[in-house]
Amino acid sequence: MRTQVGIVGAGPAGLMLSQLLHLAGIESIVLEARARREIEATVRAGVLEQGTVDLLDSIGLGVRLHREGFVHHGIELRYDGRGHRIDLSAHAGGKAITVYAQHEVIKDLVAARLACGGRIVFGAAGVEPRGFDTDAPSLHYSADGVAQVLACDFIAGCDGYHGVCRSAVPQGACHEFSRSYPFGWFGILAEAAPSSAELVYTHHPRGFALVSTRSPTIQRLYFQCDPHENVDAWDDARIWSELRARLATRDGWAPVEGPVLQKNVVGMRSFVCEPMQFGRLYLAGDAAHIVPPTGAKGLNLAIADVRMLAAALAEHYRSGNGPRLAAYSSTALRRVWKAQRFSWFMTSLLHRFPGATAYEQRLQLADLDYVTGSDAAQSSLAENYVGLPFEDATC
Ligand code: FAD
Ligand code: PHB
Repeated sequence: MRTQVGIVGAGPAGLMLSQLLHLAGIESIVLEARARREIEATVRAGVLEQGTVDLLDSIGLGVRLHREGFVHHGIELRYDGRGHRIDLSAHAGGKAITVYAQHEVIKDLVAARLACGGRIVFGAAGVEPRGFDTDAPSLHYSADGVAQVLACDFIAGCDGYHGVCRSAVPQGACHEFSRSYPFGWFGILAEAAPSSAELVYTHHPRGFALVSTRSPTIQRLYFQCDPHENVDAWDDARIWSELRARLATRDGWAPVEGPVLQKNVVGMRSFVCEPMQFGRLYLAGDAAHIVPPTGAKGLNLAIADVRMLAAALAEHYRSGNGPRLAAYSSTALRRVWKAQRFSWFMTSLLHRFPGATAYEQRLQLADLDYVTGSDAAQSSLAENYVGLPFEDATC
């Protein structure tokens, strides 16, 4: 088998890359370890930046998103029992965010790929990128127990943080930067009416909590927990009691409660691998970098990476070369590090850090007071939250 670009991973990065390449007349095949129903059911992100929505619109994938997603023009920062609204649109030139679940984006992308005759190999086992330091890279894998080789011009490693592509890079060729946080997020899906018209990010002495949504009847909430927390130790009553305690306001606000349909714990980590290219292997999305979810940046960054990579590959196939492909890693990393900074800032601002001194806790409150009281600070937060402009508007 042969294709122009062999893509590993059918997450947002891999699927979007495949679709953008198709629209530029470039062939690709996506190898995905999991089954279609699994990738379409994994609950993860919820917030799409304005630029992500604009890109989905521009490739004709905005219909369901606009019908079922929710446009939010602001968020609330809550601490000391009081809410402070940040008007995102007023501070970021009219831009907004859309709350639309990641697995719905995945469903839309898979449907679009298959409708265009795109090839996604689900259940691809033992994927191994080879020869990417030569002019003849290939992906070795097995499907239904039969060994296969996919020869290609380029490999795109879109296989997430635990994927095989980054680990195929020779030791020493990749510099890793990381920070781990001494807490995780306990996330739930609950059957209930929305508690709030906009997302609520709360700082509380018991720890961070976040109110988000999925639909008029399904809500997504998170609270800071031990990274090794046992979800089975938390029944519905205990979960809602903790959320009520953290989210309570002086004027008696309380979340709308309902049966918990799903619960899980995710760890918090910041990570960047530099460079994002090794010979003919290009990394994109979580395969190259991850952020704690407090800034809602991971999926959006994955989409921004492949937007650049698709444009660079299109230029390469059009002109036989071109500067963009060689500049992919450095261009992408500039945005990556700004998202790292913002995600670290939001995480530091809102979480309770075990072992923080009284002095550090006072500084955190001063930071919250500053952000919620300063127009300049709100503009900075809003500009980053809705998504920084793309460096190359023609990508
Ligand atoms: P992934 O989504 O991880 O996709 C990688 C794919 O590769 C997977 O389908 C995997 O099965 C496949 N794969 C892995 N290994 C192999 C292999 N060896 N062979 C073949 N296939 C393989 N981001 C936001 O922007 N906004 C948010 O609001 C937000 N909230 C979040 C909330 C939570 C609780 C979490 C955990 C994350 C959140 N994120 C958010 C982050 C976001 O979900 C990720 O950044 C995003 O999924 C990255 O997409 P990706 O395509 O790079 O990788
Ligand atoms: C979500 O809805 O899942 C969500 C929202 C905001 C975040 C992270 C996750 O910062």
